[in-house]
Amino acid sequence: MEFFHTTVSPEAIQLANNVLTSTWLSEGKMVKAFEEALASKLGLVNPVAVNSGTAALHLALVLAGVGPDDEVILPAQTFVATGLVVLMQQARPVFADIDLATGNISVESIRQRITDRTKAILPVHWAGYPCDMDEINALADTHHLAVIEDAAHALGATYKGRPVGAISRFTAFSFQAIKHLTTGDGGAICCLEDAEVHRARALRWFGIDRANSRPSILGEREYDISEVGYKVHLNDLAAAVGLGNLQAFEQILNRRREIAGRYRQALVEVPGITLLDNRADRESAAWLFTLLVDRRTDFIRALQARGVPSSVVHLRIDHNSVFGGLTPDLPNQELFNEKQVSIPLHSGLSDQEVDQVIGAVKAGW
Ligand SMILES: Cc1ncc(COP(=O)(O)O)c(C=O)c1O
Repeated sequence: MEFFHTTVSPEAIQLANNVLTSTWLSEGKMVKAFEEALASKLGLVNPVAVNSGTAALHLALVLAGVGPDDEVILPAQTFVATGLVVLMQQARPVFADIDLATGNISVESIRQRITDRTKAILPVHWAGYPCDMDEINALADTHHLAVIEDAAHALGATYKGRPVGAISRFTAFSFQAIKHLTTGDGGAICCLEDAEVHRARALRWFGIDRANSRPSILGEREYDISEVGYKVHLNDLAAAVGLGNLQAFEQILNRRREIAGRYRQALVEVPGITLLDNRADRESAAWLFTLLVDRRTDFIRALQARGVPSSVVHLRIDHNSVFGGLTPDLPNQELFNEKQVSIPLHSGLSDQEVDQVIGAVKAGW
């Protein structure tokens, strides 16, 4: 049984094949078509496709004007990329505590960490379950801070009826190999403000607005680069894979949610397990099914012996020396880090395998 599962649809293979035989592999009409489909099918606002989720997060920090000595508040319950992009801007990551019931950043803990130097809040939708975005955006408005949602796990999630990707000033998605929509590697940044969308489009390609710069008679595009840009655009080959995979996305998401529903029902009363929150005002993208368990290593070993893989996926990131070592005073983070573990959740699981996972957990550890 796999813990992660990569789906490449027949449409993705066909579209990628078309690109490979077209002689145009760089950023072109497939990137545009992929962006349009992300907007029309999933409701993302102004998605600008880039070559990773990390690049999307980094661009968001650049657009938000995060620079040396600024502080960015984020949770430690994430992948290192979320913290590294802050360091890339020579800013200071300030780790807030999380809610034990979700693994998501705690609004109260953000409030306690806001200083004169705070520039942005970077919430992460752990496992695809949306953070308390109304409260976070209200806090950001009061203190004039940018909100950058790390939605690497959350493509397809909704919050109070709105898609993640249409809520805050910036949202970053990842289409890396094991995400539920993959382009091999890739990502997208959504910006609510038009001026920032234009800037994002230029910044992903050296600072040149590719769509609106034409080659002169001399053969090179005419442009003036007014700020440092990057080389993080998506290419047409990756975009073709993403566009093809989008055809199957709804089905994949529904299957993931169905399995998550079965796990919730079957595991709710198992002693030694605490399920995470699943409130009616938001819909998870169901990227992971994270549980809190007693004696986690025993749990992992027992499941392994029954042919079921499980994983913490990411432990808290602040233990890395690049972040200065463990942050004190994060009691919920400490407990979550000790107890969290995820069981397989993906569309490659058969009903029989789902039963096997449930049976393996219920057999005890
Ligand atoms: C929470 C989170 N943020 C950001 C990233 C970075 O995304 P990518 O690998 O596409 O750069 C990941 C990992 O994939 C992640 O899990």
